[in-house]
Amino acid sequence: MLPVLNPFRPGAGVRPPELVGRQSEIDLVDLMVAKSRRRRNDGGMILYGLRGVGKTVLLNQLQQNVEKAGWVTVQLEARPGEAGSRVARQSLGRGVAMAGRQMTSRFKNAASDVRTAVATVASFSATVAGMTLKLDAPAAENRANSGLIEIDLEELVADLAGPLTRNNSALAIFVDEMQDLDSDLLTALLAVQHKASQSEWPFYVIGAGLSTLRRTLAEARSYAERFVIREIGALSHEAAVEAVAKPATDLGAIFDQRAVDLIVGEAKGYPFFLQTYGKAVWDLAPDKRIDAEIAAAGIAEGNADLDQGFFPARWDRTTAGERHYLRAMVAVGGNTASTTAVAEYLGVVSSALSPARQSLISKGIIYAERRGYVSFTVPNMDAFILRQPNVDDEDDE
Ligand SMILES: Nc1ncnc2c1ncn2[C@@H]1O[C@H](COP(=O)(O)OP(=O)(O)O)[C@@H](O)[C@H]1O
Ligand SMILES: [Mg+2]
Repeated sequence: MLPVLNPFRPGAGVRPPELVGRQSEIDLVDLMVAKSRRRRNDGGMILYGLRGVGKTVLLNQLQQNVEKAGWVTVQLEARPGEAGSRVARQSLGRGVAMAGRQMTSRFKNAASDVRTAVATVASFSATVAGMTLKLDAPAAENRANSGLIEIDLEELVADLAGPLTRNNSALAIFVDEMQDLDSDLLTALLAVQHKASQSEWPFYVIGAGLSTLRRTLAEARSYAERFVIREIGALSHEAAVEAVAKPATDLGAIFDQRAVDLIVGEAKGYPFFLQTYGKAVWDLAPDKRIDAEIAAAGIAEGNADLDQGFFPARWDRTTAGERHYLRAMVAVGGNTASTTAVAEYLGVVSSALSPARQSLISKGIIYAERRGYVSFTVPNMDAFILRQPNVDDEDDE
């Protein structure tokens, strides 16, 4: 069928034609908004899961929803390392400055306390991101300017709380790839969320990232209770069927039952794979009826695409030594493996493998979800590795 009409959209952060199976998270945030209107803050939300399950598109949807409800929002995408932490502070400073501008133009209620709050915004942005702002108010001279992010964020939220509340609004910070946030900023966000819930300030942190986040939160025990923590995983069978069938039906095309079953079965409910197969099948289909045969051909095409792009995007960045490690993971565990078992399999002590393990973690290929275990960050990476010819002995380093 005409590629130009193809509704399926594989791609990181790309909005799918139909965002299915995430109603309960959407409802939770609606509830957050409703409670906030009643001056109640039960805390923020953290979404965790593998890459390609749809965390980013869900986070974006949630952000749109709260903005529609009159909230002001700031969006951050965390990145690892020194540079990452600088960028996160810049985005935070700029985002807060934008929020301040929105407040000035939208909030007619209690203009003078909006002005006071905006002065704190200016001071916060100057301190955190080194920005000088043209806002309606000069930077407050002794608010949000300590240089300690936790204190400055708390003072900012404290000063915004009044005007936000009086205007039936709230401030939400959306953080994607939250596992990469530096620990100062992470602690600050958690601590201020904690404080905000205690004080019923309308401030919310809504984050998404890999499941290491769950452990980080468990370690920050007293703060964790201020968050709803949800795993975002593969879609249920019904949701996966809808993700494939609905966009096609909307455009007058029909997948027959066996075609849908094949696609959904092969994708195992993973949104990125559903989009990949859906797209390939659509492009191959000669007319608007899609049967099992076309679906099978499309799946093969989709798998070839994944083997060219999605998986090599990770595999090709590994060294020979790291590949040994990854193959050993697959041999002993599949998608998750015990680090001791990997070491035993390779006949070395576990500590000898820490450099390879660390480097694979920092490349975002595996992550340590629980102590003593490592997992692939994307589904089906184990099967991909099994498909790769073992020619790595001719070293590449
Ligand atoms: N609920 C969903 N239904 C159908 N497709 C989805 C859904 N969520 C995400 N997708 C698709 O899956 C892919 C990955 O989404 P993304 O948000 O980037 O995942 P993550 O952030 O978890 O890595 C995108 O192509 C997106 O369109
Ligand atoms: Mg993402």
